[in-house]
Amino acid sequence: MSGSVTEGRSLADEDPFDGSPVDATATASDTDIEGPLRPKNLREFVGQQRVREQLDLVLSGARLRGQPPDHVLLAGPPGLGKTSLARIIAAELGAAIRLTSGPALERAGDLAAMLSNLVEGDVLFIDEIHRMARPAEEMLYLAMEDFRVDVVVGKGPGATSIPLDIAPFTLVGATTRSGQLTSPLRDRFGFTAHLEFYEPRELARIITRSAAILGIDLEPAGAAEIAGRSRGTPRIANRLLRRVRDFAQVRGDGVVSEQAARDALAVYDVDRLGLDRLDRAVLSALCRSFGGGPVGLTTLAVAVGEEATTVEEVCEPFLVRIGMLARTSRGRIATPAAWEHLGLTPVRDQGTAAGTLFDAE
Ligand SMILES: Nc1ncnc2c1ncn2[C@@H]1O[C@H](COP(=O)(O)OP(=O)(O)OP(=O)(O)O)[C@@H](O)[C@H]1O
Ligand SMILES: [Mg+2]
Repeated sequence: MSGSVTEGRSLADEDPFDGSPVDATATASDTDIEGPLRPKNLREFVGQQRVREQLDLVLSGARLRGQPPDHVLLAGPPGLGKTSLARIIAAELGAAIRLTSGPALERAGDLAAMLSNLVEGDVLFIDEIHRMARPAEEMLYLAMEDFRVDVVVGKGPGATSIPLDIAPFTLVGATTRSGQLTSPLRDRFGFTAHLEFYEPRELARIITRSAAILGIDLEPAGAAEIAGRSRGTPRIANRLLRRVRDFAQVRGDGVVSEQAARDALAVYDVDRLGLDRLDRAVLSALCRSFGGGPVGLTTLAVAVGEEATTVEEVCEPFLVRIGMLARTSRGRIATPAAWEHLGLTPVRDQGTAAGTLFDAE
């Protein structure tokens, strides 16, 4: 997450601990390296075929008409390329990009200042747009629709509002939680791109490209091995590549081979499906201590010694996505795939537990 006005910096900068290698949120070391690794134009942007095609039409149409394109919303989980795409949009339009984020726009005045400084055709990028304060959001409605803001001068009954024209611009918003966006805001975007998780072969291409940029000696089987463990996420793929490079240079001959990738990722506790120690602890507690569930989130979190929010927001989305865990109205349950992944035999018939799948929230 980037929480500040300056590019690419986030709260993580103050935290020297980089967390799990498979947590998709950006850490300080990611933001340091992501600049050179970012694709610079739509052709370099790997995967997301549909989004690329749609965006290409939006941008080409605008270029033909010589007008700024509709406002664009980029929605999807962390690390899938939203910030990269925002920069690509500006580059493809030959426009300057101004960066800010929802949390940085606490007061409407902050946004008014930003908007009134825009030059015609500029791209204004608002990261984490779902976290913008309400007064700023309301100011944005008018700006998006009529390229105008109403600046309120004074307080109380004597307050007057002065309309101010702003240069036609393109807003690019990014959000990891499009569901939290209010509908008036969502409706003002002419195009919404929903980013999907990447296929392993796409991740292998991203890893190969990054290795070339970073001067890493990478074998195709090494790229495939890392890709399979990257949880469908380019940021994780690039991070695992850097960890494997360390291993290959320190303990091997510097070549990122299949074996080097396997050995390195064993050291970092990332298993062949990309599960880390906490993911496996959750599944293991679920199967070994609670017979596969159903068990409540809080109980499960206590069993693995973690905060409930960490289990819910960091582990569960991926475990649910790969079909190892199900959230039901009666609690969490392990699926047969989870038992199998842990090398365990279900302690009882999963029929009863599986029945609750249909009550899923
Ligand atoms: N399609 C892609 N092709 C090549 N590299 C990519 C692609 N998508 C993302 N990346 C790489 O992954 C890294 C993370 O991407 P980016 O910062 O754009 O993600 P994000 O969606 O903005 O994440 P967040 O939600 O945390 O802000 C970038 O440095 C970039 O190198
Ligand atoms: Mg981003």
